[in-house]
Amino acid sequence: RLGLKTEFMGRHIHSEDVVDSTQKVAHRLVFEGASEGTIIIAEEQLSGRGRMDRKWHSPKYTGIWMSVILRPNLPPAKAPQLTLITAVAVVQAIEEMTGMTPEIKWPNDILLNGKKVTGILTEMQADADRIQSIIIGIGINVNQQLEDYPEELRPIATSLAIEYGKKLERAELIKVLLVKLEKLYSLYLDQGFYPIKLLWESYAISIGKNITARTITGSISGQALGITDDGVLMIEDSHGIVHHVYSADIELEK
Ligand code: BTN
Repeated sequence: RLGLKTEFMGRHIHSEDVVDSTQKVAHRLVFEGASEGTIIIAEEQLSGRGRMDRKWHSPKYTGIWMSVILRPNLPPAKAPQLTLITAVAVVQAIEEMTGMTPEIKWPNDILLNGKKVTGILTEMQADADRIQSIIIGIGINVNQQLEDYPEELRPIATSLAIEYGKKLERAELIKVLLVKLEKLYSLYLDQGFYPIKLLWESYAISIGKNITARTITGSISGQALGITDDGVLMIEDSHGIVHHVYSADIELEK
């Protein structure tokens, strides 16, 4: 129905009106054996999930609330790379649709004018040495107006419509995104992470800057050096010690 121009990404689309979370639906479909490239899209999520146990505000008809199922034959340590691939795909899709170039805040926040326009949540099922499946949840704020956001989100969240000045066709954006995602994912399986890493770094805001990373166990401040070939953030502290950060929220120092 979308008139897709992809080989496998989005060949099976489960499109729902209201769900708790498209991630939850995806978990069920993975269990039932859904194939690589299966997409779940909903018009509204009643309990959209964000990273670090946060909620994701997912009102009806205004955004893209979508989960993508992938089944790469890779070790679990490579999973963060798939989040970074997705971030690059979203940036390129927004660029193609609007001419605006968003920035990526490690690992997976996509910002326009310093405010969050997209979040990505990756959940994996794996055994010790292989990924069984990976579910990539993508939430894109497309047509919300500022007054649609709860008060507390207004200073930090935005939408494409707010920044671009007019509404966008969500189906068109999904189509473009799936093409980008398929291209980058195929490039990655073919040539490894290096070409993706270069693209990702070209869109990243934090590299070279002083940042604080808040992890579950504490915080680390220093200069963001870049990401490793596995997609792990490297921060050099004031003693010259380089820390590898797998999961955190980061804050840029002013
Ligand atoms: C974040 O920035 O914290 C990640 C947000 C991810 C939101 C998307 S919307 C589609 C999918 N379903 C969910 O419940 N969450 C993800």
